[in-house]
Parts: sequence; C-alpha cells; structure tokens
Amino acid sequence: MTQLKPILSHLDPIIPSSTGKFKSSPYAVHRLRFHPRLTFWSFLFLFFLLLFFFCSPPAASNAGKRRSLQNTAYSARARPGPNWEVKARNSARPQSKSGVTVLVTGAAGFVGTHVAMALKNRGDGVVGLDNFNNYYETGLKKARKSLLERRGVYIIEGDINDAALLGKLFEIVHFTHVMHLAAQAGVRYAMQNPNSYIHSNVNGFVSLLEACKNANPQPSIVWASSSSVYGLNSKVPFSEKDRTDQPASLYAATKKAGEEIAHTYNHIYGLSITGLRFFTVYGPWGRPDMAYYFFTKDILRGKEIKIFEGADHATVARDFTYIDDVVKGCLAALDTAKKSTGSGGKKKGAAQLRIYNLGNTSPVPVGKLVSILEKLLKIKAKKKFLPMPRNGDVLFTHANISLARKELGYKPTTDLEMGLKKFVKWYLSYYGAKKKSAW
Ligand SMILES: NC(=O)c1ccc[n+]([C@@H]2O[C@H](COP(=O)([O-])OP(=O)(O)OC[C@H]3O[C@@H](n4cnc5c(N)ncnc54)[C@H](O)[C@@H]3O)[C@@H](O)[C@H]2O)c1
Repeated sequence: MTQLKPILSHLDPIIPSSTGKFKSSPYAVHRLRFHPRLTFWSFLFLFFLLLFFFCSPPAASNAGKRRSLQNTAYSARARPGPNWEVKARNSARPQSKSGVTVLVTGAAGFVGTHVAMALKNRGDGVVGLDNFNNYYETGLKKARKSLLERRGVYIIEGDINDAALLGKLFEIVHFTHVMHLAAQAGVRYAMQNPNSYIHSNVNGFVSLLEACKNANPQPSIVWASSSSVYGLNSKVPFSEKDRTDQPASLYAATKKAGEEIAHTYNHIYGLSITGLRFFTVYGPWGRPDMAYYFFTKDILRGKEIKIFEGADHATVARDFTYIDDVVKGCLAALDTAKKSTGSGGKKKGAAQLRIYNLGNTSPVPVGKLVSILEKLLKIKAKKKFLPMPRNGDVLFTHANISLARKELGYKPTTDLEMGLKKFVKWYLSYYGAKKKSAW
C-alpha cells in the first residue's frame, strides 16, 4: 500500500473525468511526457499490470482457448518421418488389377486398422494417416501400426488438419477413394476436452474435404458417422429416415455436423460422399475406452465394475456390432461408391450422397454382456449398479439395417457371444505377451 501511494498520488492529477477530455488535453500529454517521476512510476505500474495479465491463472472463459492450444500442440507434434513420400508411394501401389488406392485416415485406430488390413489383403493400394494422439494408450496404436507395416501398409504420422501435408500427399498419390475414420471418439471425454471433438471431427473433416475437393481427380469418400446422431430419438429400430436433431452429447453433435458438412461439399463441389453410422463396434484390437474392453480388464483384476441403469432400473442396451461385419460394410460402401464429379475444385454434375446404418439389429443389455464375459473369463464380476450419469450416453441403440442390406448387401453374421470369444482370446494373448516381454 505504501508503495502504491506515490504511484496514485502522481496519477491522480491527470486522471481525466472522461476519455474524450483526456484525448483532447495537450496539457495532460505534456505532463505525461515530461514529468520524469511520473514517467518512472507509470512505467512501473504498467509493468506490474502486464506481469499480472500474463501470469494470472486462466479464467473459465479462457480454458477453452488454452485447450485449443494444447490440441494444436499435439497435432503439431505429429510429423511424418523421413522418406515418408517414398514410403507412401510404395504403400499406395495396388497389387491387384482393381486400380483402387485408398487413403485410410485414423489407420492406427481400431476400425481403421481392420479396414486398412482388409483392403490390403484384397490387393488395393493403401496409405494410412494418423496423429497417434494419446486419448488412449498410444502403445496399442503403435502395435496396430507395426501389424500393418508387416503387411506392407505405411501409416503417415500426421494430423488431418495439416493442410500442407494433405496437399502434398494428394499431389504424390492419386487416391481413388478416401476412407475417413480419424475422429475424436467416445462420448464421455467431451466433458473433459470438448475442443478435441471440434478439432478432429469438425475442423479436421473440413480440412480433409478441402484436400479432396482440390485433388485431381477427386476421390470418392466413405466416412464414419455414428449411431449417436439418433440421440434422444425413442422410435426403434433407428432408421436413416428418423430425426437426428436431438444429440445427447457433443460427440454426437460433431458427427451430425459432419453429416451436414458432407452435404455441403457434395452439393457445391460434386464430391461423392457416403456416411456410415456405426453401432458400438467391438472386437480384437478394440478401443480401451469402451465398456466391453475395460470390463474385461477390471474383471481380470478383480476390480469392481460399474453397470449403469436408467430410471426405475431400466436396462441399458447396445446394438453391439462385430468388427468383421463392420469392415464388410465399409468395403461394400467403398465398392458401390460412384465417382466424384468435380475437378479442379469445381462441380461438373450431381454426385452421390448416401448414409447407412451399420449395426447388428439385435440390442443386448449390458448385464448380458457382463455375464458372457464372466463365462469366457471364468471369473465372477464384482458388479455395482448405479443410475446412469448425465454425461451424453443414451439408454439404448437399435439399428434398422434394411437400407444397407438392400444397397450394400450388408449382412452381419457374428453374435455377441461369438464376437466376445474372439475378443477375449485376442485380449489375453496381447496383454499376456506384453507381460511376458516386460519380464
Ligand atoms: N468403435 C465404435 O463403436 C464407433 C461407433 C460409432 C462411430 N465410430 C467412428 O468410427 C471411427 C473409427 O473409430 P474407432 O473406434 O476406430 O476409434 P479410434 O479412436 O480407435 O480411431 C480413431 C483414430 O483417429 C486418430 N485421430 C484422431 N484425430 C485425428 C486427427 N485430427 N488427425 C489424424 N488422426 C486422428 C486417432 O489417433 C485414432 O487412432 C471414428 O470416426 C468414430 O467416431 C466408432
């Protein structure tokens, strides 16, 4: 306070009664410019003001900005390695006469790895792109990458928001198709890091569509939307014609935004775009943030598992869809996609725009999922039943797949019991092997 006194005493005489007065007073300016003591204290005051401004903790409204900087930081870290252009060209070369070359975004992810592998196995040229973010264990993403590399699929480490990288990639490889699976997945994480959803699912999608629009020839695009767009819709089973304007989570809202953005790029630039609404995909090499995965982990460790219920103990149910069925649906969507009609960023005619449900049509209560896991693991789960928190999850999902069946020949064949058996087998060998190699 004693230090502040001289500052204030020098400022007092020149504090204007209004801003206008201050501006028009040459006297005040004169005093400011020539009073040496005043100048010294003013600078000191300004210095502390600036110090306070830069060192203060973020206000609530600044939190988003800081998070967005964090996202930029992690995407900036994703850099393609040396010789990436040569590796991408080699990986893009089709082995069959199909002439199909696909860019798979999110190739180090769960669905991306399986789709990239299936494309490669049938002789298509495949190049992956993934930013290897740490939403879940990056070791698993790296292991999937090694798996693909052993089969000759190269994954570029890069972010779909990196326009320069995409521009260069589309210049050196003429992709016939893009299978866009990169996204910020998961419903609950949006409450912790909302910006990551905008970064990948909105900005990233636009950045990718821009690159596709500018490519010559333009590729056809198949991309992953989500069953979550049905949100609070209570009409079952969910059909593509049902309303999707009541998202229950930010994740769902960004997927719905993606569907609208797809419409725009199709309409203006003639891009051929197919959206696939996946329903709770599960299987080997799956996602650790999903219930079937962390239930397995917790049951094996003897840890309590939380089972959520709706009002009046209503059961939560999901239309669990096995990965191999989803992969078949993805490939069928790719094979039936018509060519984009634009070139050089200009539309030449109407282009195809489609949306399909890829589900299993048989929702299973979460309690049943747990009992199958108990049987497969031969361990009784420690269950705790809790009311479902309001974090964006919906009570049930149930797909009507008649459109995909008719137009894509999509026909899921794996039930939950069979699918979980394959998942558990993989889980035990993957983590068992990791444990052994750590010893
Ligand atoms: N698995 C499901 O049950 C399910 C259900 C509905 C929809 N989907 C959608 O299917 C797609 C694949 O899902 P998944 O289960 O394989 O998820 P995943 O998280 O395993 O895969 C997504 C991959 O994208 C990458 N990625 C994220 N943002 C990126 C960016 N900005 N640039 C480059 N790479 C980025 C991640 O590193 C990750 O490897 C996603 O679009 C997801 O939203 C999945």
